[in-house]
Amino acid sequence: MTEITIRAATEADIDGILAIVNAYAAQNLMLPRNAEQIRRVLPDFLVAVAEGRVVGCGSNVALTPEVTELRSLAVATDYRSSGLGRRLVEALVAKARADGFEQICALTLTESFFGRMGFTAIDRWAIPTKLWHECIYCPKFDACDEITMMMNLIEPATAPKQIAPEVSQELWQGLKIGRQQRLRFQVTG
Ligand SMILES: CC(C)(COP(=O)(O)OP(=O)(O)OC[C@H]1O[C@@H](n2cnc3c(N)ncnc32)[C@H](O)[C@@H]1OP(=O)(O)O)[C@@H](O)C(=O)NCCC(=O)NCCS
Repeated sequence: MTEITIRAATEADIDGILAIVNAYAAQNLMLPRNAEQIRRVLPDFLVAVAEGRVVGCGSNVALTPEVTELRSLAVATDYRSSGLGRRLVEALVAKARADGFEQICALTLTESFFGRMGFTAIDRWAIPTKLWHECIYCPKFDACDEITMMMNLIEPATAPKQIAPEVSQELWQGLKIGRQQRLRFQVTG
């Protein structure tokens, strides 16, 4: 069996990360990314490498000093179903714990996978609003089908503060305006 190493990502891994993530994005399973987006959060990325090739990846992006988001988790098709996804999640959870986070969340279409990894589905408005600022860049903005999952990293966990429905409406309106302005800027700018 080929040895697989999980380690921090470097600049040389960006193309490998993009190859995996964008292949799944083409199937509507993940959000598409470009090199600049990966480069900006490269220190947050772990990669799984086999025979010099990136065969898996995932990142932790801090939303607040207490909460981090597990993002861009993917395993190359020829390495799926061999336990690598689990190993990557475990490594990212261990990294989040070592970095002092209290909770780790994920937005996903694969609820049952994250459920197996110890995450629980929660109300999307229970997580830090910083996460939603990314929404204006998302092609699925108008029809979001992702499920919010959360894992507590410390006991007793600090329960995330629930946002009142009227506040979440207000926030969503703000994001809509931000998105419209961004699209207008892209056309004219
Ligand atoms: C989801 C993904 C990362 C899982 O990686 P993997 O290496 O195939 O998963 P593993 O072999 O480690 O499986 C671990 C467990 O999850 C289960 N599992 C794997 N893929 C699953 C899926 N898509 N849905 C539900 N359960 C899944 C396995 O059966 C296994 O269960 P067990 O430990 O109880 O036997 C991988 O399928 C992938 O890259 N998918 C496309 C991209 C994606 O959807 N990423 C997540 C978006 S945030």
